[in-house]
Amino acid sequence: MYEKQCLMIPGPTNIPPRILRTLGAPAVGHRTPAFNDLIKDVSARLQTIYQTTNEVLLLTASGTGAMEAAVANFVNAGDKVLVMENGNFGERWGKIAGRYGAEVEVISGPWGEQASPQVLRERMKKDIQQEIKAVFVTHNETSTGILNDIKALRDAMQDHPALFIVDAISGMAVSPLPVDEWQLDVVVSGSQKAYMLPPGLAFISVSPKAWAVSDQVTGPRFYFDLRAARKSLLEKSTTPYTPATSLIVALQETLQIMQEEGLENIYERHAFYKKLVRTAIKALGLEPLTSDEAGSWAVTAVKRPDEIDVKKITKLMRDKHNVLIAGGQGQLQTEIFRIGHLGYVHVNDIIMTIAALERTLKELGMDIQLGQGVAAVQELLVQAGK
Ligand SMILES: Cc1ncc(COP(=O)(O)O)c(C=O)c1O
Repeated sequence: MYEKQCLMIPGPTNIPPRILRTLGAPAVGHRTPAFNDLIKDVSARLQTIYQTTNEVLLLTASGTGAMEAAVANFVNAGDKVLVMENGNFGERWGKIAGRYGAEVEVISGPWGEQASPQVLRERMKKDIQQEIKAVFVTHNETSTGILNDIKALRDAMQDHPALFIVDAISGMAVSPLPVDEWQLDVVVSGSQKAYMLPPGLAFISVSPKAWAVSDQVTGPRFYFDLRAARKSLLEKSTTPYTPATSLIVALQETLQIMQEEGLENIYERHAFYKKLVRTAIKALGLEPLTSDEAGSWAVTAVKRPDEIDVKKITKLMRDKHNVLIAGGQGQLQTEIFRIGHLGYVHVNDIIMTIAALERTLKELGMDIQLGQGVAAVQELLVQAGK
C-alpha cells in the first residue's frame, strides 16, 4: 500500500493536500506580470519566515546548491575559513569550501553533541590578524539530531569581522532563528523540509555585509551568482533563469499555510513533537543519541538497541509498516536510526510511528512491551489537552 506510506524521515517531508492540489495546477509562464507578482510575494513572505529585512533569494536547486552558492559568492580561493563540524552536514561545508580553494580549518566536535561556542570564542580571539574570512555552522545537524546553539556561536565571534554563514536547511521554521536579531550574514534553507514542499527549491538570505564581500570575490560563478539573482529580484521581480515554476506556485500556498498557523505556533508544535518522540523512545527503553537540551526539534536520533541491525529496523518499518524512518549517516551510519518530525506532521503520525516501531522491534526479537511508547505519548497528549 505505497499510497499510505508516511514520511517520518527528516526530509523530504509529507505534503499537505492543499499543496498537492496546487502542484496539480496548470503550468504557468515565468516571464509574466502574474509570475512577477508571485515572486515578489513569496520573497517578502520568506523574509517573514527568516525574520529579516535582508533579501531572501530563490534558487532552483536542492539545499546543497544553496550551500555551494554560499561558498562561491562569499569565499575567495586562498581565504581562511572556519567550519564548526559536528555531523555529516558540517562536514559538507568543509568539503565545498575546500573544493573552492579555501584554506579550511575544521573544528570538529563529537557527533551527538552541540558545537562548542567556547571553543569558537577562543579560536576567534586568537585570530589577531583577522585572517578568518568566514565561519560556517549548521543550525540543525540532521545527521545526529542536534540543535546547535546558533545565538551562542554567533555571540562567540564577538566583533570579529568574518562572515557568519548558517546551514538552516532542516532547521528553518522548526526552531527559532531570527536572522536580523542574531546577525546572521548568510542563511540557507530548503523546500523539502519544514516548508512541506517537494525538493527543488532553496532559499538564501544575504546581509549587506555579505554583499560587500561578494563584490570582492573573484572566483568563477554563473548559475549561482547571487548578484544576478538579486538584480533580477530587485529590478524585475523575477529570477535570472527559468525557475521551478510549479514549486514556486506551491511555495506561495505553503507560506500562506505557515502564516495561518503563525511562526511561534510552528515552533511550539515542533518543540512538542520533540518531547513526544523522546518520551516515547525512553519509555521503550531506548536511548536518544543527544541530551534533551541539545536535541533537535526536527529529528530525533536513537541509539541502536540490543545489537539490532539498524538497516533491518528501517527496512521493516518501510516495507511492512509503511512508515519511512532514516538510518544513520557517516560515522554513525550503523549506530543510530532517526525519526523525522518536521513539517506536515500530526500527533497521530507520531503515535502511528511509535506503534510501528514497537512492532518492528518486537518482530526483530527485542524484549519490548507493546503499547508502552504509545501510552507515554497519549499521556502527554492528554496532559497537554491536545
Ligand atoms: C542540515 C542539512 N544540510 C544540508 C542538507 C542537504 O540538502 P539537500 O539534500 O537538499 O541538498 C540537508 C539535507 O538533508 C540537511 O538536513
